[in-house]
Amino acid sequence: MAPDTDLETIDKIIDMLGELPAAPIILNKVLKLTSDLRSNIDDISRYISADQTLTAKVLSLSNSPIYGRINAISSLSEAIKVLGFNQVKSIIITASTFRIFQSVAQSNIAHILWEHSLATALGARLIVEKYGELDKEEAYLCGLLHDIGKLVLLQTIPNSYEEVVEKAKESNLSFIQVEGKVLGFNHVNVGHELLTKWQFPDNLISQISAHHSTKINKKEYSMNLARVTAIADSIAKYIGAGFFEAYQALGDSVIFIGNKFIDEDDLISLRNGTETHFNAEMNSFYK
Ligand SMILES: [Fe+2]
Ligand SMILES: [Fe+2]
Repeated sequence: MAPDTDLETIDKIIDMLGELPAAPIILNKVLKLTSDLRSNIDDISRYISADQTLTAKVLSLSNSPIYGRINAISSLSEAIKVLGFNQVKSIIITASTFRIFQSVAQSNIAHILWEHSLATALGARLIVEKYGELDKEEAYLCGLLHDIGKLVLLQTIPNSYEEVVEKAKESNLSFIQVEGKVLGFNHVNVGHELLTKWQFPDNLISQISAHHSTKINKKEYSMNLARVTAIADSIAKYIGAGFFEAYQALGDSVIFIGNKFIDEDDLISLRNGTETHFNAEMNSFYK
């Protein structure tokens, strides 16, 4: 975590967020409505239905080919019945997160960040589907929000953050390193503060905050969401959903998920699967 002085700066940035805090109302609502399934389905349907744009986006995503439905889903309650509450929860969170990304004026960088976040989320879900142990929708959520701090910085200090992007492009340094040099703190610090303010579950915040601290070429005792996010991040960059870090992703030839080694065939299949899902999802967003 950053020293106290940096935390004050980060707090100031969060305070400057402008319209960003509007979306978490839905995110928080959705996150909290998970324990009592029966009453929650009605509750959440009513809540989302009041927002027509969001409902339309949720339905269009529910009909994405990645869920493999033959018959079209035409209502929110049907989506929940057919896809399950957790899946629909992820879809709602995706639609509302997309809205946050769209609200940022620096649209080029925000668009790349959105692609990167979505690809990381889809990759993280596929990793857990294949290797088990964790909750795949939690993994998806970690992937979706792992770099949310970058978006906050882009929104609040656009000129400095464009400088960060330029410097990262020109140098061989990672974003974390350039952010540290230019700003004195990084997107992980900012993301941590933001998600804490949003009252996200603590375990997800700490796993998201560790996405740059895990070394994917080292064995771990067991699998965790930070590691899954880091591998999915690397896969996203590899398939071109990121800035210009494909070279870094290419270097990741030794990868452990927890204590399991991913061989080249498995890695290729994860990359291909992520790319297929990513392309299908991008179509659902922009059609
Ligand atoms: Fe990151
Ligand atoms: Fe990332």
